[in-house]
Amino acid sequence: MRVAVFGAGYVGLVTGACFAELGHDVVVRDILEEKIDALRRGEVPIHEEGLDELLERNGARLRFTTDVDESVEGAEVVYVAVGTPPTYSGDADLSAVWTVVDELPRADRRIVVAMKSTVPVGTGRTVRRRLDERGLENVGYVSNPEFTAEGTAVRDFMHPDRLVIGAFDPADAEVVERLHAGIDAPVIRCDVASAEMIKLAANAALVTRISFINEIANVCEATGADVITVAEGIGLDRRIGPAFLRAGIGFGGSCFPKDSLALKQLAANSGYSFQLLNAVIEVNELQKRRVIGKLERRLGSLRGKKVALLGLAFKPGTDDMREAPSLVLAGRLQAEGAEVSAWDPVADGSVLLDGVRIAGSALEALDGADAAILVTEWPELRELDWAEAGARMRKRVLIDGRNMLDPAEMRGYGFDYEGIGRAAE
Ligand code: UDX
Repeated sequence: MRVAVFGAGYVGLVTGACFAELGHDVVVRDILEEKIDALRRGEVPIHEEGLDELLERNGARLRFTTDVDESVEGAEVVYVAVGTPPTYSGDADLSAVWTVVDELPRADRRIVVAMKSTVPVGTGRTVRRRLDERGLENVGYVSNPEFTAEGTAVRDFMHPDRLVIGAFDPADAEVVERLHAGIDAPVIRCDVASAEMIKLAANAALVTRISFINEIANVCEATGADVITVAEGIGLDRRIGPAFLRAGIGFGGSCFPKDSLALKQLAANSGYSFQLLNAVIEVNELQKRRVIGKLERRLGSLRGKKVALLGLAFKPGTDDMREAPSLVLAGRLQAEGAEVSAWDPVADGSVLLDGVRIAGSALEALDGADAAILVTEWPELRELDWAEAGARMRKRVLIDGRNMLDPAEMRGYGFDYEGIGRAAE
């Protein structure tokens, strides 16, 4: 089939590459000329496992353009994968979505617009109305949300837990389902509003689990229990399950913070106060800041102290720093008067972090530091020569924000080590 994908960001590129891999002809369209030029030259603007290979392997079935007509020409399905960032009010900013809808050219055949971007419930209905107002009755609309996580996006796309296809017209759902032929997964066919809600509710359920285990971790700290053992113990209950029970310094990224805020706001706009979600968000904000208290208990005032941040990306396997806990930590540390150094194997901290010394290696970041915070659980940090790391530091204070390292081993290297939700020595 012929597919157009609007938006060459994380979601759009993965979507386009994976549809090409499934044998479809894909044209990815973005408004940023530099990005399209780079993609044409074979340069991949993001760090995403397996994406480079996929783009290269399917080069013959993939084109990139800034031109709307060229991308939609002959396409049976037009995917919308543009950004929907939060506005000041916490609502999703849908301006990029409206631009796509309004730019859509007239066609003498049926086209299905498929929404991949995460949008508030009710967006599909509004898009339908706008299309009808433009006389584009032959354009169908389907909500086909993505559930791909960064770092594993290609695998998640090709081997999803489920496909969700919400449509006004069953024939449109049929087209989108056909597009996924070759992917083995249960399909949820439903109305558009339910598909939109499935996406928001899935993310809300996941962030609720994270804030839940983080609160359990905080109570563990106060009572002498160990959250890793507790998570294992509850995760074996089949009704609970083991995934997404890793306590740490809170969730970040391009989806969870934005989408939980958008659902909270969506509820509030309809006159409903989503109290559980409010608490989930607040717990996450506080969780990022708790590390500062752990440092202060050891170092006293942080004024003039040197603190190294190990890892900047919001999680390993990506260069994405959107809503990363590292941003809040760097800001809080600087506000307390600390000197901050940082290292990440792929994320470029110099763009978002002002006044932070960006080091070329983890060891360099640790030179002369009074304390280190493990922010992102990069495998490189497990392999680090921690004896050498300790020798380079002025004081061996180590806060493991991801419970990645072995406490006994680290204490063996002379570190005053503390994780999250685990007994401090
Ligand atoms: C997430 C969803 O997983 C995906 O389905 C959705 O489409 C987009 O949002 P992503 O943001 O890429 O994907 O990352 P994910 O791996 O889910 O992690 C999100 C955040 O939660 C990270 O900051 C991670 O460190 C944190 N997290 C995750 C925890 O703190 N504990 C956990 O147990 C799991």
